[in-house]
Amino acid sequence: MVLQRLAPEDFWIPGVHWAIEVVIIIILILFLWVCVCVRSIRYFWKFPMPAVMGNAIAAGPYRSRVQPPSMIIQALEVRSGMKIVEIGCGSGFYTIAVAKAIQPAGIVFAVDIQQGMLDKLKARMEKEGVENIIPVLADAEGHIPLDDGTADAVFSIAVLPEIPDPPRALLQVKRLLKDDGIYVNAELLLDPDFPLRKTVVKWAQQAGFTLKRQLGSFFRHVLVFIKES
Ligand SMILES: C[S@@+](CC[C@H](N)C(=O)[O-])C[C@H]1O[C@@H](n2cnc3c(N)ncnc32)[C@H](O)[C@@H]1O
Repeated sequence: MVLQRLAPEDFWIPGVHWAIEVVIIIILILFLWVCVCVRSIRYFWKFPMPAVMGNAIAAGPYRSRVQPPSMIIQALEVRSGMKIVEIGCGSGFYTIAVAKAIQPAGIVFAVDIQQGMLDKLKARMEKEGVENIIPVLADAEGHIPLDDGTADAVFSIAVLPEIPDPPRALLQVKRLLKDDGIYVNAELLLDPDFPLRKTVVKWAQQAGFTLKRQLGSFFRHVLVFIKES
């Protein structure tokens, strides 16, 4: 068999300028490199995402397309007047959407461990004219200063892998939930910390939750849990 030599132009996708392809390849390599570094560091040392990156991860069209707030709202089975707690609200991209969905009587208690993130949330609340959010500065693994059974629902997005002992934080979630309340957790593969669905289910089961239903896909899973009776 005689192998034909490839001409240089055969390496590239027809119709796409080679320079664009090189840039895409470089971005992909850099992204993979960041993922490997973050995962390796976080394996030994868990730390919250720095507050300076709060707005970057919430950046508009990309996030709302791949992990739309509507998925979370659907999973939360929102209705007006609900009391909802968000763990690790960050700069509030999802907090605002959920708060709007439960207006006028509903309240979101937005918990984050960093004051810098809560400041960004407050700026977003002002910009969007949303008032039914109460920022709460607390470590989800410690004591969250809210009463037992406060919440009809609790949710968290891309937070559990940043917490050193996720089942311990989920015990707090369980305490905050009403007996018939639901806990919703969402994760996205593009997050360097992305945990598999089975890992989140294992953490939740260790804290006494049962999986009720799942939305999304392998790449962007949304899991809904109820308290074990
Ligand atoms: C990757 S960001 C996600 C923010 C937001 N949920 C989103 O999806 O846009 C994780 C957030 O969880 C917060 N966080 C990390 N560890 C926490 C803890 N132990 N208690 C409360 N919040 C925590 C971080 O400060 C950060 O704002």
